[in-house]
Amino acid sequence: MDLNKRPDDMVRITTPELAQAFIAEQVAACREQIGDKKALLALSGGVDSSVVAALLIKAIGKQLICVHVNHGLMRKGESEQVVDVFRNQLDANLVYVDATDRFLSLLDGVAEPEAKRKIIGAEFIRVFEEEARKVGDEVSFLAQGTIYPDILESDGVKAHHNVGGLPDDLQFELCEPVRLLYKDEVRVVGRELGLPENMVERQPFPGPGLGVRCLGAITRDRLEALREADAILREEFAAAGLEGKVWQYFVSVPDFRVTGVKEGKRLYEWPAFIRAVNTVDAMTAEVPELDWALLKKIGDRIASEVDGICRVLYDLTPKPCGTIEFE
Ligand code: XMP
Repeated sequence: MDLNKRPDDMVRITTPELAQAFIAEQVAACREQIGDKKALLALSGGVDSSVVAALLIKAIGKQLICVHVNHGLMRKGESEQVVDVFRNQLDANLVYVDATDRFLSLLDGVAEPEAKRKIIGAEFIRVFEEEARKVGDEVSFLAQGTIYPDILESDGVKAHHNVGGLPDDLQFELCEPVRLLYKDEVRVVGRELGLPENMVERQPFPGPGLGVRCLGAITRDRLEALREADAILREEFAAAGLEGKVWQYFVSVPDFRVTGVKEGKRLYEWPAFIRAVNTVDAMTAEVPELDWALLKKIGDRIASEVDGICRVLYDLTPKPCGTIEFE
């Protein structure tokens, strides 16, 4: 049997009952696979890794060691939620690493997008590797949130894309319990595992996080303004019932200032770019026609509530010819 192929007769998981049956089956399979050994998981807070973590906590409890690396480029409240859900609510064995200062000092003055991506990716591996080494001797399994589209895209050869480049002397066997599921099925399973709705419906978020949305060379003050503006956008989208309905929506803040007037004073502050897109595969994307009152409310709130931002623009560009991200 080809373990990389979804059987033709595999039922699509669309209901709570089907999800419960899947969970029971995978809990048993993971228990069998891992036995009394330990497994390590890079827990980003994304839906795939969160679902695998919740499933394995059910299966092997504290034999699962989750590592959450906060690179300082997470959205507002995200790392805190990972700690709250997994450590406080699910009683997970969670290693939380706040590596903000390491990432931001490496990124200091670096403006080129691909250079930023390389620094963030390489440092992420370094931090994870350090943590893996600390527990390395005891760990036999590496759990990953690989899903079926990842397998299809990589033509059956799955690289360790979450944690690629782990040291050669750490030998792990892989445990990938959602490897045959599509994204919508992972969400149904996540809901049945009791994960919060905003985690289950979490929109795609690039690995380099806000690092590629704080355009050009990242500064702490602009990163903070971006994080606050993005939180307002997400709050208003959720209140308008758009969470899970619009594929991806976010704020980017460029590294130039524009003029504005606040309380009768002329000033120079950053503009904020709002981007919202619908897409199937992220190769092409459409801009949704959002309700004007909603856009105005978001614009007003960001410009008045966020220090350093005085203007808000909505990007009308589909992909092509714009990409989804600004850099
Ligand atoms: P673009 O900007 O290329 O984005 O149209 C397409 C999708 O990919 C996401 N994206 C990334 N995801 N690492 C990631 O994991 C990255 O460096 C990266 N850059 C873009 C983007 O958010 C969108 O969903």
